Amino acid sequence: MKTVSLAVLALLPVFGQSTVARYLEDRKLWVLDGGNVTYAMGVNERQELQHVYWGKRLTRDADLGAVRSTPDWASFDLTTTTTPQEYPGWGAGLYVEPSVKVTFADGNRDLVLHYASHRLLATGLEVALKDIRYNLNVTLTYRMDPETGLLQRQARIANNTDKDIVIESAQAGALYLPRGEGYRLTSLTGRWAGETQIQRTLIRSGEQVLESRRGSSSHQVNPWFAIDRGGKADEDRGDVWFGALGWSGNWRVTVEQTPHQQVRVTGGLNTFDFGYRLSPGQSLETPPLYAGYTDGGFGEASRLFHRYQRAHIMPGGLNVRLRPVLYNSWEATEFAVDEPGQKALAEKAAKIGVERFVMDDGWFGARNSDHAGLGDWTVNRKKFPNGLGGLIRHVNGLGMEFGLWVEPEMVNADSDLYRAHPDWAMHFPNRPRTEARNQMLLNLARDDVKEYLFGFLDKLVSENNIAFLKWDYNRNWSEPGWPETAPADQKKIWVQYVLNLYEVLDRLRAKHPKLEIESCSGGGGRIDLGIMKRVEQVWTSDNTEAYDRLRIQEGFSQAYAARAMMAWVTDVPNMNGRSTPLKYRFLVAMQGSLGIGANLNKWPQEDFALASKLVDYYKGVRRTVQEGKLYRLASPMEGDLTANQYVSEEGKQAVLFAFLRSQQYGRPAPVIYLKGLDANAVYRVRRIDDKLPGNAERLSGAFLMNHGLQLQLKGDYDSTSIAFERE
Ligand code: DGJ
Repeated sequence: MKTVSLAVLALLPVFGQSTVARYLEDRKLWVLDGGNVTYAMGVNERQELQHVYWGKRLTRDADLGAVRSTPDWASFDLTTTTTPQEYPGWGAGLYVEPSVKVTFADGNRDLVLHYASHRLLATGLEVALKDIRYNLNVTLTYRMDPETGLLQRQARIANNTDKDIVIESAQAGALYLPRGEGYRLTSLTGRWAGETQIQRTLIRSGEQVLESRRGSSSHQVNPWFAIDRGGKADEDRGDVWFGALGWSGNWRVTVEQTPHQQVRVTGGLNTFDFGYRLSPGQSLETPPLYAGYTDGGFGEASRLFHRYQRAHIMPGGLNVRLRPVLYNSWEATEFAVDEPGQKALAEKAAKIGVERFVMDDGWFGARNSDHAGLGDWTVNRKKFPNGLGGLIRHVNGLGMEFGLWVEPEMVNADSDLYRAHPDWAMHFPNRPRTEARNQMLLNLARDDVKEYLFGFLDKLVSENNIAFLKWDYNRNWSEPGWPETAPADQKKIWVQYVLNLYEVLDRLRAKHPKLEIESCSGGGGRIDLGIMKRVEQVWTSDNTEAYDRLRIQEGFSQAYAARAMMAWVTDVPNMNGRSTPLKYRFLVAMQGSLGIGANLNKWPQEDFALASKLVDYYKGVRRTVQEGKLYRLASPMEGDLTANQYVSEEGKQAVLFAFLRSQQYGRPAPVIYLKGLDANAVYRVRRIDDKLPGNAERLSGAFLMNHGLQLQLKGDYDSTSIAFERE
């Protein structure tokens, strides 16, 4: 007899029971509680699904009355537009951003969704909506994390008519902030080598759109946002609503303030060049939209989101293996890789405590520059006469894992793959094919391309002892044609490409459960919660210059967990012609997953000694950095001092990193007040240098948080780190 384990049963939705959601039948209201958050909605007298509340936890169901729609405002803003609908279809005079827009086979473009049914799930709720006339059904899923109050929303749009329909907008849903004005939007914008720059602007009447039309989540705007009330939140205080999309393709987040003092946020697939035909019986699922709230400022917003990502999004969950210290060959050798050269680097890397050696670009096909070879994923025998095995055995013999760079989705015109399959490159027939970095995209929306990708990656990983892939993606889309499909389906490329990418990653991971992956796209061009579900880490930026990195990393940390943030120590002078001391570069990179990307062949002996000492220190604090709570104590945007502190989940260890840009007039560095410690506890102090004056071996939490530390940071690019162990 087949037995079903209790563990499996616990994961199944328990209909009618939920740990976070309840239905108040008398008022047709649903209330979700998690962490310090309540989210409530209900069915109004017009049968619309209406938003009721999202914010700090409520305590009394009786306070919530029956849901009533908002009346018309004159003949120009009808109730359809003034009522905060959770998932409005475009129809019946809707002038705010719709959650879904459809054209039916008969030309009808009016869509009015009413409540149909619901069911409680173990961790949330499903609400079914239906058009008032047509068999167009939408299923909304709301899942709330009981611990952090993070909400995951998603919508499935199903065509149950007997003819084709075209979906012109598919959003995960609309989020509403408490009615009012004066909110402020924080976003992360940038460009190649300058990602995740924090941008803050007041929300005014009208729309602000955060989006990517580039085929991937993009360097330019990251699919994350935060909104604070009154523009008054800081790291420690203030109401902050925040969210992010789990999608690695074209995305859009629309932030609106209506003329009726209502701020609403709609997030999902980008509507630009979008048209998704659904045949009868077919459905389209939107990307998930994650959303959270805190009254503890931007710092607490980040900590909640990091915790949620580590527990529920990133592979491995909370008890995952810590990120190993990595070496990467790119900045040392670029394309000039070969077996003796890589072996020599590996030997030096092993000496300083590196645990994973990664060979970057240049090892395959005719890849001697970025002009050729992409697509030909067989080892270059001139460079590696013994195949990859010779190098891998050597690396393993040195006690390190081996990792390899790939860029599976791309092809150079000068490659055997392109010569054999020119039609696989993304293009419109009889039109030029724009190259960027001399390369084109493969149309991964095609099943044959998907199978080719899976096939060569599976072979590579099966035949070689590869622990880690750095998966690169060095350009954005152009000419997004898909001539092999019917013209009416060609725009599906925007979605199908991403779904196939996810499928390849999922299959590869399922077949090789120990394989770890880094998402890279010329740095941080593909960092989002869709890809982060499938990779252990992301490459934060191609800009490895330590001072620039402080701001890039601060922006990254607003949204994403330190565990995922790959940071390398590289050589100087670097970007901007800037040179910083090796210690500074190490300490900057240690604030996430530490890597080294320097040319170790050029290092003097004393650099090896310092590097070994710092790598050793990192190994003693990395659990706290990678898995702990982050407190941003001083921002590089605000002054010469940058300080970040990490506290382990159970509070046993705290680690402080401090950086001084430039001292002037002999002024001492600003006092640093630690946070998140136990005031009554005593902490043993572990120094790596003499920047903390005095010789105190123990300090209390109260002293560290209230009296603070006056560090002796001097001159330019000075830095230190101190670890505190609770006794
Ligand atoms: C871009 C990546 O961001 C770099 O780290 C490196 O892997 C190069 N591509 C290799 O072409």
